[in-house]
Amino acid sequence: MAQHSADSTPHGPAAWRSRLDTLEAAVRARTALVPRLGIVLGSGLGGLADEIDHPVAIPFTELPGWPAATAPGHAGKLLLGELAGIPVVALQGRFHLYEGHPVGLVVQPVLLMRRLGAPVVVLTNASGGVDASYRAGTLMLITDHLNLTGVNPLIGSNDESMGPRFPDMVDAWDPALRALLRRAAGDLDIPVEEGIYAQLLGPNYETPAEVRMLRTMGASAVGMSTALEAVAARWAGLRVAGISLVTNPGAGVTGEPLTHEEVLAAGEAAGPRMRALVRRFVELLAEA
Ligand code: HPA
Repeated sequence: MAQHSADSTPHGPAAWRSRLDTLEAAVRARTALVPRLGIVLGSGLGGLADEIDHPVAIPFTELPGWPAATAPGHAGKLLLGELAGIPVVALQGRFHLYEGHPVGLVVQPVLLMRRLGAPVVVLTNASGGVDASYRAGTLMLITDHLNLTGVNPLIGSNDESMGPRFPDMVDAWDPALRALLRRAAGDLDIPVEEGIYAQLLGPNYETPAEVRMLRTMGASAVGMSTALEAVAARWAGLRVAGISLVTNPGAGVTGEPLTHEEVLAAGEAAGPRMRALVRRFVELLAEA
């Protein structure tokens, strides 16, 4: 990962402004929609995009510098449209470190959402249950995270006009937004848990020892995305909420091997609940 360079070319956040200028122009060539909310749709959760009315869909490869999405279950499109009558921008698929992408690219979509005018972002993902009581299909509202990737998107020269050098991470996962998510879930009788999400690099699933380690660290779910996006989003002043779909008990919990197929299948199965929850949340956010 080219986080450190000996030459004087700006790297890290200081290099992002011009990249975002180009991306913003590419989006603005297609739509003037100003989103009130950004949504990142994780593995198997892309179906939520069907809730978006009058979508302008931009394939990743038509956005300057964005490669195609390679992770299975990721369509690779940026969508701008309306959800429950509210203008939104949604990322159907995302960029992961395990695909070999630089961390600056991993966080670019949420920064682009900010650029396009969204003040709030909802990050969704698929995860393994570290809390042994979580069954496949559990929805967990993210209360906090452990960034265990060993990487940080904010390394390099900072751009103070975009965000501070040392951003605060207390209540990074916005308590008021989480309360709205709880209310949305209550309105729909959808059970939700709350817990801490740990991001590891992947792409292998964890060892049972790693899952036990994560449990002692206080994590309730584990995955390969999201925490880095949350760090960059907070830096840039976005309010952040997160929903993790626990697609499987973590490694070693049941003794069964983990497969990507079960992750996608659980995503499909939970799709309607997830869609309803996000739609209701958007309605409540619009009223708030
Ligand atoms: N571990 C990491 N990432 C995941 C898992 C898991 O068990 N399930 C879905 N995404």
